[in-house]
Amino acid sequence: MSERPIGVGVIGCGEIAQLMHLPYLHELPEFRIAALCDISPTLVETLGDHYGVARRTTDHRELLADPKVDAVVICTYDHGPIVADTIAAGKHFIVEKPLAFTPEEARPLVERAREAGLVAMVGYMKLFDPGYEYGRARIAAIGKPASIRVHDFAGRFDRYGALYSQIRPADVPADRVAAGRAAVEARIDAMLGPDHAGYRDLYFTILMLGSHDLAVLRAAFGAPEGVAYARAIGPNHVMAVLDYPGGVPALLEIAFGAQYEWWDEGIEVRGRDETVRIAFQNPYWRNASAIVHIQEAAGDGPSERIVPGVPDTSFRREWKHFAAAIRSDEPVRSTLEGGLDDLELALAIVRALPPKGRA
Ligand SMILES: NC(=O)c1ccc[n+]([C@@H]2O[C@H](COP(=O)([O-])OP(=O)(O)OC[C@H]3O[C@@H](n4cnc5c(N)ncnc54)[C@H](O)[C@@H]3O)[C@@H](O)[C@H]2O)c1
Repeated sequence: MSERPIGVGVIGCGEIAQLMHLPYLHELPEFRIAALCDISPTLVETLGDHYGVARRTTDHRELLADPKVDAVVICTYDHGPIVADTIAAGKHFIVEKPLAFTPEEARPLVERAREAGLVAMVGYMKLFDPGYEYGRARIAAIGKPASIRVHDFAGRFDRYGALYSQIRPADVPADRVAAGRAAVEARIDAMLGPDHAGYRDLYFTILMLGSHDLAVLRAAFGAPEGVAYARAIGPNHVMAVLDYPGGVPALLEIAFGAQYEWWDEGIEVRGRDETVRIAFQNPYWRNASAIVHIQEAAGDGPSERIVPGVPDTSFRREWKHFAAAIRSDEPVRSTLEGGLDDLELALAIVRALPPKGRA
Protein backbone atom coordinates (compact mmCIF):
# COMPACT_ATOMS: atom_id res chain seq x y z
CA MET A 1 0.00 0.00 0.00
CA SER A 2 1.36 3.45 -0.86
CA GLU A 3 2.10 5.88 1.97
CA ARG A 4 -0.28 8.71 2.77
CA PRO A 5 0.91 11.94 1.12
CA ILE A 6 2.56 14.47 3.44
CA GLY A 7 0.11 17.36 3.98
CA VAL A 8 1.91 20.65 3.34
CA GLY A 9 0.74 24.11 4.36
CA VAL A 10 2.09 26.97 2.26
CA ILE A 11 2.69 30.19 4.20
CA GLY A 12 3.17 33.12 1.83
CA CYS A 13 1.69 32.47 -1.63
CA GLY A 14 3.60 35.08 -3.65
CA GLU A 15 6.05 34.73 -6.49
CA ILE A 16 8.26 31.80 -5.54
CA ALA A 17 5.36 29.82 -4.07
CA GLN A 18 3.35 30.25 -7.27
CA LEU A 19 6.20 29.69 -9.69
CA MET A 20 7.89 26.73 -8.04
CA HIS A 21 6.63 25.34 -4.75
CA LEU A 22 2.90 25.02 -5.46
CA PRO A 23 3.27 23.39 -8.90
CA TYR A 24 5.71 20.78 -7.55
CA LEU A 25 3.69 20.11 -4.41
CA HIS A 26 0.66 19.59 -6.64
CA GLU A 27 2.53 17.29 -9.00
CA LEU A 28 4.60 15.11 -6.65
CA PRO A 29 2.78 12.06 -5.23
CA GLU A 30 4.69 12.38 -1.94
CA PHE A 31 2.72 15.52 -1.05
CA ARG A 32 -0.70 17.08 -0.97
CA ILE A 33 -1.36 20.78 -0.49
CA ALA A 34 -3.23 20.76 2.82
CA ALA A 35 -3.65 24.50 3.45
CA LEU A 36 -2.82 27.92 2.06
CA CYS A 37 -2.04 31.10 3.95
CA ASP A 38 -1.35 34.63 2.77
CA ILE A 39 -2.22 38.07 4.10
CA SER A 40 -3.90 38.63 0.71
CA PRO A 41 -7.39 37.05 0.76
CA THR A 42 -7.44 37.18 -3.06
CA LEU A 43 -4.36 34.99 -3.26
CA VAL A 44 -5.61 32.27 -0.93
CA GLU A 45 -9.03 32.21 -2.58
CA THR A 46 -7.77 32.16 -6.18
CA LEU A 47 -5.00 29.65 -5.53
CA GLY A 48 -7.31 27.59 -3.28
CA ASP A 49 -9.76 27.26 -6.19
CA HIS A 50 -6.98 26.54 -8.67
CA TYR A 51 -5.35 23.79 -6.60
CA GLY A 52 -8.53 22.50 -4.96
CA VAL A 53 -7.42 23.38 -1.42
CA ALA A 54 -10.28 23.94 1.00
CA ARG A 55 -8.26 25.14 4.00
CA ARG A 56 -7.52 28.83 3.40
CA THR A 57 -6.48 31.42 5.93
CA THR A 58 -4.80 34.79 6.32
CA ASP A 59 -3.33 33.82 9.72
CA HIS A 60 -0.39 31.40 9.72
CA ARG A 61 -1.18 30.34 13.31
CA GLU A 62 -4.51 28.92 12.13
CA LEU A 63 -2.71 26.96 9.41
CA LEU A 64 -0.19 25.62 11.93
CA ALA A 65 -2.99 24.47 14.23
CA ASP A 66 -4.54 22.30 11.50
CA PRO A 67 -3.87 18.59 12.19
CA LYS A 68 -3.92 17.85 8.44
CA VAL A 69 -0.82 20.04 8.06
CA ASP A 70 2.20 17.79 8.62
CA ALA A 71 4.76 20.22 7.26
CA VAL A 72 4.99 23.78 5.95
CA VAL A 73 6.95 25.86 3.50
CA ILE A 74 7.60 29.44 4.58
CA CYS A 75 7.71 31.86 1.64
CA THR A 76 7.01 35.18 3.34
CA TYR A 77 9.37 38.14 3.60
CA ASP A 78 10.25 37.94 7.32
CA HIS A 79 10.82 34.29 8.17
CA GLY A 80 12.18 34.19 11.74
CA PRO A 81 8.94 34.71 13.73
CA ILE A 82 7.02 32.22 11.53
CA VAL A 83 9.80 29.65 11.86
CA ALA A 84 9.55 30.05 15.66
CA ASP A 85 5.77 29.43 15.54
CA THR A 86 6.26 26.45 13.21
CA ILE A 87 8.72 24.80 15.59
CA ALA A 88 6.37 25.44 18.52
CA ALA A 89 3.58 23.75 16.53
CA GLY A 90 5.84 20.72 15.92
CA LYS A 91 5.67 20.82 12.11
CA HIS A 92 8.47 19.87 9.74
CA PHE A 93 9.42 22.74 7.45
CA ILE A 94 11.32 24.24 4.56
CA VAL A 95 12.03 27.92 5.12
CA GLU A 96 12.95 29.89 2.03
CA LYS A 97 16.35 31.54 2.25
CA PRO A 98 17.52 33.36 4.30
CA LEU A 99 16.75 31.45 7.50
CA ALA A 100 16.28 34.79 9.31
CA PHE A 101 17.62 38.31 8.95
CA THR A 102 20.26 38.20 11.70
CA PRO A 103 22.35 35.45 13.32
CA GLU A 104 20.90 36.46 16.68
CA GLU A 105 17.36 35.64 15.49
CA ALA A 106 18.50 32.43 13.84
CA ARG A 107 20.49 30.90 16.71
CA PRO A 108 17.55 29.95 18.96
CA LEU A 109 15.63 28.61 15.95
CA VAL A 110 18.45 26.20 15.12
CA GLU A 111 18.54 25.00 18.71
CA ARG A 112 14.77 24.65 19.12
CA ALA A 113 14.29 22.79 15.82
CA ARG A 114 17.05 20.36 16.81
CA GLU A 115 15.54 19.79 20.27
CA ALA A 116 12.11 19.23 18.73
CA GLY A 117 13.55 16.59 16.37
CA LEU A 118 11.96 18.21 13.31
CA VAL A 119 12.99 17.86 9.69
CA ALA A 120 13.98 21.47 9.08
CA MET A 121 15.55 22.80 5.89
CA VAL A 122 16.60 26.13 4.44
CA GLY A 123 15.38 26.44 0.83
CA TYR A 124 18.78 26.49 -0.85
CA MET A 125 17.50 24.57 -3.85
CA LYS A 126 20.78 25.01 -5.77
CA LEU A 127 22.32 22.38 -3.49
CA PHE A 128 19.97 19.91 -5.23
CA ASP A 129 20.79 21.03 -8.76
CA PRO A 130 22.06 17.93 -10.63
CA GLY A 131 24.79 19.95 -12.36
CA TYR A 132 25.96 21.31 -9.02
CA GLU A 133 25.96 17.81 -7.52
CA TYR A 134 28.10 16.51 -10.40
CA GLY A 135 30.44 19.53 -10.34
CA ARG A 136 30.81 19.35 -6.58
CA ALA A 137 31.93 15.72 -6.80
CA ARG A 138 34.52 16.76 -9.40
CA ILE A 139 35.65 19.60 -7.11
CA ALA A 140 36.02 17.18 -4.20
CA ALA A 141 38.22 14.98 -6.39
CA ILE A 142 40.61 17.92 -6.97
CA GLY A 143 41.74 17.70 -3.35
CA LYS A 144 43.31 20.93 -2.09
CA PRO A 145 42.38 23.65 -4.59
CA ALA A 146 44.77 26.36 -5.74
CA SER A 147 42.01 28.90 -6.15
CA ILE A 148 38.27 29.22 -5.60
CA ARG A 149 36.06 31.85 -7.19
CA VAL A 150 32.34 32.42 -6.68
CA HIS A 151 30.62 34.97 -8.84
CA ASP A 152 26.99 36.10 -8.89
CA PHE A 153 25.78 39.03 -10.93
CA ALA A 154 22.42 37.29 -11.49
CA GLY A 155 20.79 38.56 -14.69
CA ARG A 156 17.33 39.60 -15.77
CA PHE A 157 14.72 38.35 -13.34
CA ASP A 158 11.77 39.51 -15.44
CA ARG A 159 12.34 37.05 -18.29
CA TYR A 160 10.35 34.30 -16.59
CA GLY A 161 7.22 36.47 -16.78
CA ALA A 162 6.30 35.14 -20.20
CA LEU A 163 6.62 31.52 -19.04
CA TYR A 164 4.21 31.31 -16.13
CA SER A 165 0.94 32.77 -15.01
CA GLN A 166 1.24 34.59 -11.70
CA ILE A 167 -1.41 36.30 -9.63
CA ARG A 168 -0.34 39.67 -8.26
CA PRO A 169 -3.13 40.68 -5.90
CA ALA A 170 -4.13 44.25 -5.08
CA ASP A 171 -5.28 43.47 -1.55
CA VAL A 172 -1.94 42.88 0.24
CA PRO A 173 -2.29 45.28 3.19
CA ALA A 174 0.30 47.93 2.28
CA ASP A 175 0.54 49.34 5.82
CA ARG A 176 1.30 45.88 7.22
CA VAL A 177 3.96 45.25 4.58
CA ALA A 178 5.55 48.67 5.21
CA ALA A 179 5.54 48.14 8.99
CA GLY A 180 7.06 44.68 8.56
CA ARG A 181 9.85 46.02 6.35
CA ALA A 182 10.56 48.89 8.75
CA ALA A 183 10.79 46.43 11.67
CA VAL A 184 13.25 44.24 9.76
CA GLU A 185 15.36 47.26 8.79
CA ALA A 186 15.46 48.37 12.43
CA ARG A 187 16.66 44.90 13.50
CA ILE A 188 19.39 44.94 10.86
CA ASP A 189 20.46 48.50 11.71
CA ALA A 190 20.71 47.55 15.38
CA MET A 191 22.90 44.55 14.47
CA LEU A 192 25.17 46.51 12.11
CA GLY A 193 25.59 49.32 14.60
CA PRO A 194 26.21 52.99 13.69
CA ASP A 195 29.62 52.22 12.14
CA HIS A 196 28.23 49.87 9.47
CA ALA A 197 24.55 50.86 9.18
CA GLY A 198 25.35 52.41 5.77
CA TYR A 199 25.71 48.88 4.36
CA ARG A 200 22.16 47.75 5.06
CA ASP A 201 21.32 47.44 1.34
CA LEU A 202 24.51 45.53 0.72
CA TYR A 203 23.73 43.15 3.58
CA PHE A 204 20.29 42.60 2.00
CA THR A 205 21.92 41.85 -1.36
CA ILE A 206 24.15 39.25 0.26
CA LEU A 207 21.18 37.63 2.02
CA MET A 208 18.60 37.77 -0.76
CA LEU A 209 20.79 36.99 -3.79
CA GLY A 210 24.17 35.92 -2.44
CA SER A 211 23.12 33.55 0.33
CA HIS A 212 22.71 30.87 -2.37
CA ASP A 213 26.37 31.39 -3.25
CA LEU A 214 27.49 31.24 0.37
CA ALA A 215 25.58 27.94 0.65
CA VAL A 216 27.10 26.54 -2.54
CA LEU A 217 30.57 27.46 -1.30
CA ARG A 218 29.90 26.05 2.17
CA ALA A 219 28.55 22.76 0.79
CA ALA A 220 31.75 22.35 -1.23
CA PHE A 221 34.35 23.59 1.27
CA GLY A 222 32.76 24.11 4.70
CA ALA A 223 32.73 27.42 6.54
CA PRO A 224 35.74 29.70 5.92
CA GLU A 225 38.15 30.62 8.71
CA GLY A 226 37.58 34.32 8.20
CA VAL A 227 37.18 37.26 5.86
CA ALA A 228 40.61 38.54 4.79
CA TYR A 229 39.32 41.46 2.74
CA ALA A 230 36.06 43.05 1.64
CA ARG A 231 35.30 45.98 -0.61
CA ALA A 232 31.98 47.61 -1.47
CA ILE A 233 32.18 48.42 -5.17
CA GLY A 234 28.67 49.87 -5.26
CA PRO A 235 25.58 49.98 -3.03
CA ASN A 236 24.64 46.43 -4.15
CA HIS A 237 28.04 45.12 -5.19
CA VAL A 238 30.60 43.51 -2.90
CA MET A 239 33.87 41.69 -3.38
CA ALA A 240 35.46 39.67 -0.60
CA VAL A 241 38.36 37.30 -0.05
CA LEU A 242 37.62 34.44 2.33
CA ASP A 243 40.28 32.34 4.00
CA TYR A 244 40.06 28.56 4.05
CA PRO A 245 42.31 26.18 5.99
CA GLY A 246 45.71 25.61 4.45
CA GLY A 247 45.89 29.15 3.09
CA VAL A 248 43.42 28.60 0.23
CA PRO A 249 41.66 31.84 -0.66
CA ALA A 250 38.17 32.16 -2.13
CA LEU A 251 37.24 35.25 -4.11
CA LEU A 252 33.56 36.06 -3.78
CA GLU A 253 31.76 38.66 -5.86
CA ILE A 254 28.06 39.40 -5.52
CA ALA A 255 26.14 42.16 -7.27
CA PHE A 256 22.50 42.84 -7.93
CA GLY A 257 21.14 44.78 -10.86
CA ALA A 258 22.89 43.42 -13.96
CA GLN A 259 20.49 43.31 -16.90
CA TYR A 260 22.29 40.55 -18.79
CA GLU A 261 20.19 38.34 -21.03
CA TRP A 262 22.13 35.41 -19.56
CA TRP A 263 22.34 34.22 -15.98
CA ASP A 264 25.76 35.00 -14.54
CA GLU A 265 26.32 32.91 -11.44
CA GLY A 266 28.80 30.18 -10.80
CA ILE A 267 31.70 28.67 -8.92
CA GLU A 268 35.15 28.01 -10.40
CA VAL A 269 37.73 25.84 -8.72
CA ARG A 270 41.25 25.38 -9.98
CA GLY A 271 43.48 22.53 -8.93
CA ARG A 272 46.96 21.49 -10.01
CA ASP A 273 45.82 19.68 -13.13
CA GLU A 274 42.07 20.26 -13.37
CA THR A 275 39.66 23.19 -13.49
CA VAL A 276 35.95 22.85 -12.75
CA ARG A 277 33.41 25.59 -13.48
CA ILE A 278 29.77 25.23 -12.53
CA ALA A 279 27.49 27.71 -14.29
CA PHE A 280 24.04 28.01 -12.75
CA GLN A 281 21.02 28.68 -14.93
CA ASN A 282 18.27 31.17 -14.25
CA PRO A 283 16.65 29.69 -11.12
CA TYR A 284 13.20 30.62 -12.37
CA TRP A 285 13.48 28.40 -15.43
CA ARG A 286 12.11 24.97 -14.80
CA ASN A 287 14.08 21.99 -16.05
CA ALA A 288 17.27 23.99 -16.60
CA SER A 289 20.10 22.74 -14.43
CA ALA A 290 23.70 23.90 -14.06
CA ILE A 291 26.23 23.36 -16.84
CA VAL A 292 29.66 22.08 -15.84
CA HIS A 293 32.81 22.97 -17.73
CA ILE A 294 35.88 20.81 -17.11
CA GLN A 295 39.45 21.34 -18.23
CA GLU A 296 41.83 18.47 -17.63
CA ALA A 297 44.78 16.63 -19.10
CA ALA A 298 44.22 14.10 -21.89
CA GLY A 299 47.42 12.21 -22.51
CA ASP A 300 50.07 14.85 -23.18
CA GLY A 301 47.62 17.58 -24.08
CA PRO A 302 44.70 19.58 -22.75
CA SER A 303 41.09 18.52 -22.91
CA GLU A 304 37.93 20.55 -22.39
CA ARG A 305 34.47 19.17 -21.81
CA ILE A 306 31.11 20.73 -21.28
CA VAL A 307 28.66 18.61 -19.32
CA PRO A 308 25.22 19.96 -20.22
CA GLY A 309 22.47 20.35 -17.67
CA VAL A 310 19.97 17.52 -17.38
CA PRO A 311 16.27 18.35 -17.63
CA ASP A 312 15.29 18.60 -14.00
CA THR A 313 14.52 21.38 -11.54
CA SER A 314 16.34 21.90 -8.29
CA PHE A 315 13.12 22.90 -6.50
CA ARG A 316 11.52 19.58 -7.45
CA ARG A 317 14.55 17.66 -6.19
CA GLU A 318 14.56 19.72 -3.00
CA TRP A 319 10.99 18.57 -2.29
CA LYS A 320 11.83 14.93 -3.03
CA HIS A 321 14.73 15.17 -0.58
CA PHE A 322 12.42 16.71 2.04
CA ALA A 323 10.00 13.77 1.64
CA ALA A 324 12.88 11.27 1.98
CA ALA A 325 14.12 13.08 5.11
CA ILE A 326 10.65 12.82 6.69
CA ARG A 327 9.86 9.29 5.59
CA SER A 328 13.21 7.52 5.53
CA ASP A 329 15.39 9.59 7.87
CA GLU A 330 17.61 10.66 4.95
CA PRO A 331 20.03 13.19 6.53
CA VAL A 332 19.01 16.77 5.72
CA ARG A 333 21.43 18.33 3.23
CA SER A 334 20.36 21.95 3.67
CA THR A 335 20.39 22.37 7.41
CA LEU A 336 19.40 25.29 9.63
CA GLU A 337 22.93 25.17 11.04
CA GLY A 338 24.20 25.90 7.53
CA GLY A 339 21.69 28.73 7.18
CA LEU A 340 23.05 30.22 10.40
CA ASP A 341 26.65 29.87 9.15
CA ASP A 342 25.67 31.85 6.05
CA LEU A 343 24.13 34.66 8.11
CA GLU A 344 27.28 34.83 10.22
CA LEU A 345 29.45 34.97 7.11
CA ALA A 346 27.27 37.69 5.52
CA LEU A 347 27.69 39.74 8.67
CA ALA A 348 31.44 39.08 8.83
CA ILE A 349 31.81 40.29 5.22
CA VAL A 350 29.99 43.54 6.03
CA ARG A 351 31.99 44.01 9.23
CA ALA A 352 35.21 43.64 7.21
CA LEU A 353 34.26 46.74 5.18
CA PRO A 354 35.49 50.17 6.27
CA PRO A 355 33.05 51.95 8.61
CA LYS A 356 30.12 53.68 6.93
CA GLY A 357 27.19 55.18 8.83
CA ARG A 358 23.78 55.88 7.35
CA ALA A 359 23.77 58.97 5.13
N1 LIG B 1 14.96 29.99 -3.60
C1 LIG B 1 14.92 30.99 -4.46
O1 LIG B 1 15.60 31.03 -5.47
C2 LIG B 1 14.00 32.14 -4.17
C3 LIG B 1 13.53 32.93 -5.22
C4 LIG B 1 12.66 33.98 -4.90
C5 LIG B 1 12.32 34.23 -3.59
N2 LIG B 1 12.84 33.46 -2.59
C6 LIG B 1 12.53 33.74 -1.18
O2 LIG B 1 11.14 33.50 -0.98
C7 LIG B 1 10.59 34.46 -0.12
C8 LIG B 1 9.38 35.11 -0.80
O3 LIG B 1 9.81 35.75 -1.97
P1 LIG B 1 8.77 36.10 -3.15
O4 LIG B 1 9.59 36.57 -4.28
O5 LIG B 1 7.83 34.99 -3.35
O6 LIG B 1 8.03 37.34 -2.49
P2 LIG B 1 6.53 37.84 -2.69
O7 LIG B 1 6.45 39.18 -2.09
O8 LIG B 1 6.10 37.65 -4.11
O9 LIG B 1 5.69 36.82 -1.81
C9 LIG B 1 5.62 36.87 -0.41
C10 LIG B 1 4.19 36.58 -0.02
O10 LIG B 1 4.11 36.46 1.39
C11 LIG B 1 2.92 37.07 1.82
N3 LIG B 1 3.07 37.39 3.25
C12 LIG B 1 3.82 38.36 3.81
N4 LIG B 1 3.73 38.30 5.17
C13 LIG B 1 2.92 37.25 5.45
C14 LIG B 1 2.45 36.67 6.65
N5 LIG B 1 2.80 37.14 7.85
N6 LIG B 1 1.62 35.60 6.58
C15 LIG B 1 1.25 35.10 5.37
N7 LIG B 1 1.67 35.61 4.19
C16 LIG B 1 2.50 36.66 4.22
C17 LIG B 1 2.75 38.28 0.92
O11 LIG B 1 1.44 38.75 0.88
C18 LIG B 1 3.22 37.71 -0.42
O12 LIG B 1 2.15 37.18 -1.17
C19 LIG B 1 11.71 35.45 0.20
O13 LIG B 1 12.21 35.15 1.46
C20 LIG B 1 12.78 35.18 -0.83
O14 LIG B 1 14.08 35.34 -0.32
C21 LIG B 1 13.65 32.41 -2.87
